[in-house]
Amino acid sequence: MAKPRGVLIAGNWKMNHTSAETSGFFATLRAQAEKSLPSQAKKAFESKQLQAVVIPPMFSVEKAAKLAQEMIYPPVQVAAQNVHWEKKGAFTGEVSGPMLHELGLKWALVGHSERRQFFGETDETARKRTESLLEQGFKVILCVGETRAEREAGQTSSVLTRQIQGALPEKAKGAAKFLDGTLVIAYEPVWAIGTGLTASPEQAEEAHQTLRKLLWDRFGMEASGRTPILYGGSVTPENVDSLLACANVDGALVGGASLKPDGFLALLAAGAIATAR
Ligand code: PGA
Repeated sequence: MAKPRGVLIAGNWKMNHTSAETSGFFATLRAQAEKSLPSQAKKAFESKQLQAVVIPPMFSVEKAAKLAQEMIYPPVQVAAQNVHWEKKGAFTGEVSGPMLHELGLKWALVGHSERRQFFGETDETARKRTESLLEQGFKVILCVGETRAEREAGQTSSVLTRQIQGALPEKAKGAAKFLDGTLVIAYEPVWAIGTGLTASPEQAEEAHQTLRKLLWDRFGMEASGRTPILYGGSVTPENVDSLLACANVDGALVGGASLKPDGFLALLAAGAIATAR
């Protein structure tokens, strides 16, 4: 099989798309899907070899969740950009897992570099979120990646090691829930995010191999082999094919190029072709 873990295309909207714009996005997606997606896509979605996730800002999540539930084709799942590890309490400005469960959400993003850079997220808080969310039954996309200075200093592998060791739940060792794609890792080199400087397929594959080895050390061969690792950082419909062609790249976490329905559909089309290759 070309992609043993299938392909996951996740669109991180960041702080873009109001509730009304979210409705427009879904309407256009639905209207254009049949003509924009190749014939392989239907089968790929049905067999879950291809998955589409959108990650709207918190205030648009409810609208997106409702529209996603009504959507027939393409099937779209919705993730939250940030979720607190406690289920309730005195945490002004935060959102809890039960609030999102009530909307039907099953996915959450954890540890995005913008959360680390601007909002004080650390490996420790990423671990608390990952651990709590997995226990609450969410699927988690955990983001890791080095800065430009760290890459230039030859520290990519040590940074990824620190982030993975620091952010993965200790007690989840060998747990069955890691065997079915419940945990997804996103390798997002900070220097590639929003800069137009995509990692080359060779750079991405090298980092993904490092991550796969770290997962192996932590959870064993089988869990490591089943954990999808996405690449993120200036992915576009033009460069996604070469990234998806890498053995250890199991999908993409895309910001800017996922915001418009036609861009998102083009990424899904590439994902469908990659699963059938
Ligand atoms: P970008 O963002 O595709 O706009 O570089 C990716 C991300 O931050 O997830």
